[in-house]
Amino acid sequence: MSSPIIVTIDGPAGTGKSSAAAQLADRLGFDMLDTGAMYRAVALLALEHQIDPHDEPALGIAIDRSNLLIDFSSRPPVIRLNLRDVHERIRDADVTAIVSLIASHHAVRVRMVDAQRQVALQHDRLVTEGRDQGSVVFPNATVRVWLDARPEVRANRRTVELRGRGQQVDERRVLAEIIARDASDRGRLEGPLLQPTGSHAIDTSDISFDEVVIALERLVRARLGAVSSRCGCGGGA
Ligand code: DC
Repeated sequence: MSSPIIVTIDGPAGTGKSSAAAQLADRLGFDMLDTGAMYRAVALLALEHQIDPHDEPALGIAIDRSNLLIDFSSRPPVIRLNLRDVHERIRDADVTAIVSLIASHHAVRVRMVDAQRQVALQHDRLVTEGRDQGSVVFPNATVRVWLDARPEVRANRRTVELRGRGQQVDERRVLAEIIARDASDRGRLEGPLLQPTGSHAIDTSDISFDEVVIALERLVRARLGAVSSRCGCGGGA
């Protein structure tokens, strides 16, 4: 059996991580793991079981008692909570409002990190996306990428996205929120937002989405070529 290949994509919100990871996985024929969806599913679990999002022990117990599953039989995969497909429900505003707090708890993170490593054991060609994938979860991944963009650009993308969904938003406010969230995410103890040492940084501020995906694909294929020529084992998709 050939050795597993893991590509991690870390970076702050608004850099297009999820969409880029999904496109990259499609182009390479890899599976894709959206780890933000896992934290969102835990937030939904808290809402549905009326667990205080500050109550870390109760959240840990609830996760242990539930069945949180990524169903790779669909493409893109769907997330199931106790067998129910919740991939749309986890994008709702009530989930979004508490997910950052939920994701700050050690008891939640250790369980999600463990689940993510279990997924990687079952998928030997994986693109995984989330802020801690290259820094914490898979520090020895084949390719680790850090996607970034200037806060103003991220605020503008987010504003366009929300307006596209019919919401009224003030771009200056979105920018202020992004700056505050970056500061709190960088300073937090559990899964802080940081560029993994040795990762490849791509600044997406001044390039199109397609150019980001092309740059990612080029990077991964170059790395796979280097790996396969070193070991003579063939690393391409
Ligand atoms: O990417 P997203 O908006 O779906 O992520 C939801 C939340 O989970 C967001 O607050 C960031 C957090 N998250 C995290 O802490 N670690 C990850 N690996 C992925 C997401």
